[in-house]
Amino acid sequence: MTKLNYDLVVFGATSFVGQILTQYLAEYFATQKEQIRWAIAGRSQQKLQHVKDTLGPIGQAVPILVADANNQTELDALCAQTRVVVSTVGPYALYGEPLIQACVNNGTDYCDLTGETQWIKHMITKYEAQAQQSSSRIIHCCGFDSVPSDMGVYYLQQQAQQQFNAPATQVSMRVKTLKGGASGGTVASLINVIQEAAADPALRKDLLNPYILCPADHGNTQRQTYIKSAKFDPDFNAWIAPFVMAAVNERVVQRSNALSGNAYGNNFRYNEAILTGEGLKGRLKALAVVSGLGAFMLAAVSKPISQVMERYLLPKPGEGPTPEQQLAGRFELRFVGKTDAGQSLKVKVTGDRDPGYGSTGKMLGQAALSLAIDHAKDGEKSTVQGGFWTPATMFDDRFIQRLTKHAGLSFEQV
Ligand SMILES: NC(=O)c1ccc[n+]([C@@H]2O[C@H](COP(=O)([O-])OP(=O)(O)OC[C@H]3O[C@@H](n4cnc5c(N)ncnc54)[C@H](OP(=O)(O)O)[C@@H]3O)[C@@H](O)[C@H]2O)c1
Repeated sequence: MTKLNYDLVVFGATSFVGQILTQYLAEYFATQKEQIRWAIAGRSQQKLQHVKDTLGPIGQAVPILVADANNQTELDALCAQTRVVVSTVGPYALYGEPLIQACVNNGTDYCDLTGETQWIKHMITKYEAQAQQSSSRIIHCCGFDSVPSDMGVYYLQQQAQQQFNAPATQVSMRVKTLKGGASGGTVASLINVIQEAAADPALRKDLLNPYILCPADHGNTQRQTYIKSAKFDPDFNAWIAPFVMAAVNERVVQRSNALSGNAYGNNFRYNEAILTGEGLKGRLKALAVVSGLGAFMLAAVSKPISQVMERYLLPKPGEGPTPEQQLAGRFELRFVGKTDAGQSLKVKVTGDRDPGYGSTGKMLGQAALSLAIDHAKDGEKSTVQGGFWTPATMFDDRFIQRLTKHAGLSFEQV
């Protein structure tokens, strides 16, 4: 194997979440024994220098690499120097493809924060065969969507196997607590998906397909039931409402099942929703969430309204929750799983910091380190071949240990 200059390059170190990630890695390497050769990258030397200056003494040793997300030659040169790239340059549907192409050209491993299912599907269709040939492992969705959902189900299935010797073929995830804000990049990505879907009926149909990310021969014929309205959930004795990230997480979890040979069952069903509470108050809150989501979708579909929202109401690229808001944020997810024989179990996944940024930066950092260290190809520590994987099919218990020890997450049976 060729000797490369770097183990990990952070592409998009200047983005809102890229700065959190970069700071997290610098602090991690300053306090932990694990050390790797890493660099920061992006399109602007000046902006990257500014990020480097904020990293303290350890940052001074971190090299800067300049590459534009639209310049294939520069991206190829970047990927040829490193074993792993972690990217926060989004919306990925607008900027992400040339970097995927450079990674599969060079056999470079890659992880990111995209939740744009239509783009992920397009990348799998176009580049999976080449990724398998070049041994490049591509792992999308390594932030709040979809690490807690995907690894939460992975963890629940392990408990189910240990206790019942059978998978939980029906799993529901309910968001109990979610405290945090949105950044300009996330808002831009969300509005981009809604507008693309509004303009393209075929894409709308694709996005509704629960198995959109699964290989064609996934073998699960089960009809999935999604939470589209306010409902009472007897498993939690509370009202529930649609969860905005469900459309991504549910598809990723289904892909994990398909890629693991239907280890969760070929009749596996999964859905997500948020808990809004008991009684009339819970019901009214659920109805309010449904109306709020509907109003946001309508506003996003209309170009003039979405432009006004982006200009005056929503965070702009580079903006997001303050450091205080990030620290004050947290999340708690509850999962209930049922086997075909009717046995059931509950699991809780929690995280400190706000889910989309403070916590996402740490999850993405640990996913990148897991690729660079635990699953290093040249160290032969990994049996995972090239291709497009989900967090739960690329990583294993070592990732859960990393998340628990270093990223403020907890996984436990309740
Ligand atoms: N899955 C999750 O849980 C989660 C959570 C948070 C964010 N996200 C996603 O992560 C992405 C980043 O979000 P954000 O709010 O951090 O974004 P942001 O602050 O708007 O930053 C965008 C980044 O893209 C870079 N960029 C734009 N065009 C480029 C080009 N041609 N070449 C190189 N770099 C270019 C920008 O570089 P400059 O600084 O040079 O302009 C900047 O670093 C979004 O897609 C968002 O949806 C996902």
